[in-house]
Amino acid sequence: MLKPFTPDSALPPQEAGWDENLRFAYSEGDAFWLTRWTAKDGWEPGRLYEHRGARLELSPGAAVLYYGEGVFEGLKAYRTRAGKIVLFRPRDNALRLRASAARLALPAPPVEMFMEAVTAVVRANARWVPVPEKGSFYLRPVLIGTEAILGVRPAEECLFYVFGCPVGPYMGGEKVIVLSAAHRSAPYGTGAAKAAGNYAGCLRPQKIAKEMGYVDALYLDAREDRYIEELTGANVFAILRDGTLVTPALGSILPGITRESVLTIAREVFGWLAVERKLAIDEVLADAAEAFYVGTAAALFPVTVINYKGKDYIIGDGQPGPRAKMLRQALVEIQLQERPDPWGWVVEVPV
Ligand code: COI
Repeated sequence: MLKPFTPDSALPPQEAGWDENLRFAYSEGDAFWLTRWTAKDGWEPGRLYEHRGARLELSPGAAVLYYGEGVFEGLKAYRTRAGKIVLFRPRDNALRLRASAARLALPAPPVEMFMEAVTAVVRANARWVPVPEKGSFYLRPVLIGTEAILGVRPAEECLFYVFGCPVGPYMGGEKVIVLSAAHRSAPYGTGAAKAAGNYAGCLRPQKIAKEMGYVDALYLDAREDRYIEELTGANVFAILRDGTLVTPALGSILPGITRESVLTIAREVFGWLAVERKLAIDEVLADAAEAFYVGTAAALFPVTVINYKGKDYIIGDGQPGPRAKMLRQALVEIQLQERPDPWGWVVEVPV
């Protein structure tokens, strides 16, 4: 049951009562935003509903439940030290959602509707946006096929909704493992879409990696089983001994917004050579001075050990590298309006 949201008197942030040690976990905030789409009538005007106790009503035959017709996004709102609330590159998330939707034959939410939804959710939950030392407010836009169908075809009824929760760090381990016989995506598959099923397919490798003491699996390409692709929920980079920053080229990987931001910062803030190309696992193991992974949830985190074919390889000197640190600091400072943002990435949310 969904109850329309009516704003209570907004409490100041310090009275929101969030957990002192925020984790990257689901919690119910004050309000979430939802709209419906049908092939016949298009999008309904969306609106806010009470988040606490909210449950979606779906037919057992809903397309998303067994054909996996669902795509999603992840973006963060930050409270700056100057007390503003800002979003990082939300239009890029809107555009990526549209691309993901197209790949799964879902209707693509217009960019302005996406912006209306995320802005409304941030404003209604402003008291849950943590101060920078504590964390950030993670927004999860979701688009799913809800029509009850039996044969395989695109759903003609869908839901698009956005919820958010205050979060702390995600992942945060430095050791990754390449597992044999575990690929995330295939050429011309759905790897570049933020499709729910891509993550389902990673659950077993991720679980095995964790059981073996690694933070996640590092996937290689499916064609040659040789070139690194990404982790379950983060893109990867290496800094070679000659100082070149390298990340796998787009194709079957997620076109990460943090990935693109890091490339831009490396080139335009630090003047480094930063390239997108095929990056063989052997090259990383032999020549990487640093490695790290990036994502909205993960931010930017160093990789100091890669296990390949049963052996742990130390990256660089086995310590988090200085250039990864510089990139992380620049990224965070830009996100918090503490460094110039010549690209217009940071969008203030009036609250
Ligand atoms: C994100 O970084 O926002 C993601 O969607 C990754 C997810 C696995 C947490």
